[in-house]
Amino acid sequence: MATDVHGAVTPKTADGASAAVRVAGLTRSFDGRAVIDGLELTVQPGEFVALLGRSGCGKSTLLRVLAGLDREIEGEVSVPRRSAVAFQAPRLMPWKKVWRNVLLGLPGRPERAVAEQALGEVGLSHRTDAWPKTLSGGEAQRASLARALVREPDLLLLDEPFGALDALTRIKAQRLVAELWRRRGCAVLLVTHDVEEALLLADRAVVMDEGVIAYETAIDLPRPRDIASPRFAELRARLLDRLGVDGPTDSPADSPSSSGLADGPAGDGLADAA
Ligand SMILES: Nc1ncnc2c1ncn2[C@@H]1O[C@H](COP(=O)(O)OP(=O)(O)OP(=O)(O)O)[C@@H](O)[C@H]1O
Ligand SMILES: [Mg+2]
Repeated sequence: MATDVHGAVTPKTADGASAAVRVAGLTRSFDGRAVIDGLELTVQPGEFVALLGRSGCGKSTLLRVLAGLDREIEGEVSVPRRSAVAFQAPRLMPWKKVWRNVLLGLPGRPERAVAEQALGEVGLSHRTDAWPKTLSGGEAQRASLARALVREPDLLLLDEPFGALDALTRIKAQRLVAELWRRRGCAVLLVTHDVEEALLLADRAVVMDEGVIAYETAIDLPRPRDIASPRFAELRARLLDRLGVDGPTDSPADSPSSSGLADGPAGDGLADAA
């Protein structure tokens, strides 16, 4: 678990059989350009994986494929029957009250109580009967999370769910996801641009580049995570390096502002640290 794996990831057949996600030789092209190009990825049941990578490298494309929203693919993809996705934009229907939004798309005629329970889990009981336009950004995001939770997913796909939130709301939302993950025990694949977020939440971070998982590392830090620990700083520096902060003098353009470059050893000698 504590071993870093460098370079391309090859799923083991034995693991693959019981995996929550198994992707083999996945290719997705747009207009003849392969955005995903022979990608391999395995996620174990209950595992929390953070997916990082430069803007435009294909993270959302991969999530859409895993969510079954895009089937124009080559290769093999296997996901649990019950999976759910939450996008950066909460995508609530404005003409339906919050609780009805939460139940949207569920099979059968689910009871209001199902929505109430999920809204309770994300701390939104008091907004059950609200209209979406009256929600704050953080509340809308939590409603979106509740909508994912009512599906009782074995795989939760989160595409930059905290991207639009202010710093404090973001920290609360991160804690909420960590708690829900612990409680529910589902596998999570979280797309994020924030290296610290990945290191605070995930068991493993994978970096997408050139259409494949170009790098991965186990996040072998005890929970709750201490961002001041040397190992945290080491992992942060290594991931930032892999994200294209090529050397000590490069601008951290692709890295999040919250990554604490100023207090982390993201500089000297780290180009080859991995
Ligand atoms: N439906 C589409 N038609 C054509 N090109 C597309 C389509 N969807 C995605 N692409 C292209 O595929 C590439 C990857 O897009 P994707 O949205 O997966 O990137 P991303 O890694 O999620 O980026 P970001 O971090 O900015 O969200 C981009 O160049 C994008 O323009
Ligand atoms: Mg995206």
